[in-house]
Amino acid sequence: MNSNVTPFRNVKHASMLWAAPDRAEEIAALHAKLFDPPWDAAAIRSLLEHPAATSLIAVAGSQKKSVIAFVIGQLAGDEAEILSIGVSPDWQRVGLATGLLEGLTRAARRGDAKRIFLEVAEDNASGLALYRKLGFIEVGRRKRYYERPGSAPVDALTLVLHLEPPAEAS
Ligand SMILES: CC(C)(COP(=O)(O)OP(=O)(O)OC[C@H]1O[C@@H](n2cnc3c(N)ncnc32)[C@H](O)[C@@H]1OP(=O)(O)O)[C@@H](O)C(=O)NCCC(=O)NCCS
Repeated sequence: MNSNVTPFRNVKHASMLWAAPDRAEEIAALHAKLFDPPWDAAAIRSLLEHPAATSLIAVAGSQKKSVIAFVIGQLAGDEAEILSIGVSPDWQRVGLATGLLEGLTRAARRGDAKRIFLEVAEDNASGLALYRKLGFIEVGRRKRYYERPGSAPVDALTLVLHLEPPAEAS
């Protein structure tokens, strides 16, 4: 984690919560800053309402009301999937995505998941660096999966993280 961050951006000033459907508008607003095309609030709300939803947000600011990061995931059977993750540009590189992914990983292990899948664009250097640091490995490729307005489509890489069972409570 970077040590030269301002105190306000220190990860200690953020809290992690389960993402309830009533945070869909705020998550959509952040998603729109990070992704093109963005997902609208209705689509995000429906993911958060899904019985398999396993989604977290990080909040900060006055009364910890602003959503500064999110991870939208699903847990079904022995597999979990990360559908989207994003961190507000002002809050990147202080460990928030790592914290959210660790939270989701703990929940997946408790739910008896054996692995977590995700897809990431081959040209997403920051996403790939994050996932590789956390132990995800490449297991597949979807050719020309992501449209890029004005340029050639980009391959999606399928990554997986194999999970150990949760440690026995002592
Ligand atoms: C990718 C993203 C979620 C990372 O969030 P983050 O909170 O900044 O990540 P962290 O601070 O937890 O970083 C953990 C590690 O990931 C890697 N990493 C993260 N951002 C990086 C970047 N821009 N360049 C290189 N490595 C990066 C580093 O190894 C970092 O560890 P370090 O800071 O000790 O070097 C964030 O950049 C983002 O929201 N990007 C836009 C949306 C996106 O691309 N989402 C992923 C789609 S699959």
